Amino acid sequence: MIPKLNIVPFVSVDHMMSLVLAKGVERFTVELAGYIEEDFRRWDMFDKTPRVASHSAEGVIELMPTSDGTHYGFKYVNGHPKNTREGRQTVTAFGVLSDVGNGYPVLLSEMTILTALRTAAMSALAARYLAPKGSRAMAIIGNGAQCEFQALAFKALLGIESVRLFDIDPEATKKAMTNLAGSGLTLEPCTSAEAAVQGVDIITTVTADKQNATILTDNMIGSGVHINAVGGDCPGKTELHRDILLRAGIFVEFEPQTRIEGEIQQLPAEHSVQELWKVIRGEAPGRADSHQITLFDSVGFAVEDFSALRYVRDSLTDTAFSTDLDLLADPDEPRDLFGMLLRHQKVAAAAP
Ligand SMILES: NC(=O)c1ccc[n+]([C@@H]2O[C@H](COP(=O)([O-])OP(=O)(O)OC[C@H]3O[C@@H](n4cnc5c(N)ncnc54)[C@H](O)[C@@H]3O)[C@@H](O)[C@H]2O)c1
Repeated sequence: MIPKLNIVPFVSVDHMMSLVLAKGVERFTVELAGYIEEDFRRWDMFDKTPRVASHSAEGVIELMPTSDGTHYGFKYVNGHPKNTREGRQTVTAFGVLSDVGNGYPVLLSEMTILTALRTAAMSALAARYLAPKGSRAMAIIGNGAQCEFQALAFKALLGIESVRLFDIDPEATKKAMTNLAGSGLTLEPCTSAEAAVQGVDIITTVTADKQNATILTDNMIGSGVHINAVGGDCPGKTELHRDILLRAGIFVEFEPQTRIEGEIQQLPAEHSVQELWKVIRGEAPGRADSHQITLFDSVGFAVEDFSALRYVRDSLTDTAFSTDLDLLADPDEPRDLFGMLLRHQKVAAAAP
């Protein structure tokens, strides 16, 4: 069959949900983490640039491009912490994967759900290299849109068995408890961040607030804990007290972007951090010993979204989880774009 050059497969929100549910959330995160790990192992093949951010008083809109030389991908994503008060998501996203050889898109996909899954997969993958061996208990501070995905990814990739939950809005914690009720995780709602971190091996902070917040203070962090700091991802938007950073081994995705957006924006530029891909490739040590505090200063990097788009594209084979989108103009004679317009005018005029 001759491929229709105008058609691009489109994965809608409905289709993404069907795909995720067909696989199961846990299997999806495990497989997606595998794709991210594979791409981090070939880190040097990727074009890398800090994302292009357009800041406003209320939030940020970002473009996240990268290419491995065969495919090019980008994600459009926003971050507007006040949105939930108006019934909108804090984070929404969509993305494109293209063929570098001819520049034609090969996939257009919703990425709001996919971002939650890829962030959770990335967090759990980093924790596999950095968290204390045998971690079974975690805290999640911030029980919004990302929360349940984080819990299930850590269950699937690390064997986490119990999750302590805290949010300044008890309704958010109640929602997460309800959604995770059948997950097999032991859940404990907590009344403060201090209470939530009691006795856990891993702490995820995934709050949304456009300020330098102090979700965790130094006295809350015992030795040997792994911190997965997800919510601090913009200039002027952090979650950890600086003193924690000074005690921790810090691991990042792409250092030039994290210097701008991550917790380490609080530190001088010469403060040493380690890019995670080197740990994954075995070229740099991960956790030094059982006493070290490790921090994954997550901001979300384009390669992870590229991996996610690549995974979705591979997962679509022999499924009905996409529609054909008439996205690209495709005249019979490539240079006769105007003629195609005129022919369409005639067809439209002749239509009853
Ligand atoms: N690093 C990454 O790759 C990545 C990816 C996606 C989202 N994020 C970030 O993660 C954060 C959470 O995203 P979301 O979609 O879940 O947002 P959300 O708005 O759905 O949920 C955020 C939750 O944080 C809670 N919160 C705010 N301040 C708090 C505080 N001081 N203590 C405890 N809870 C508090 C809110 O009540 C809300 O329930 C955002 O800041 C977003 O930008 C990062």
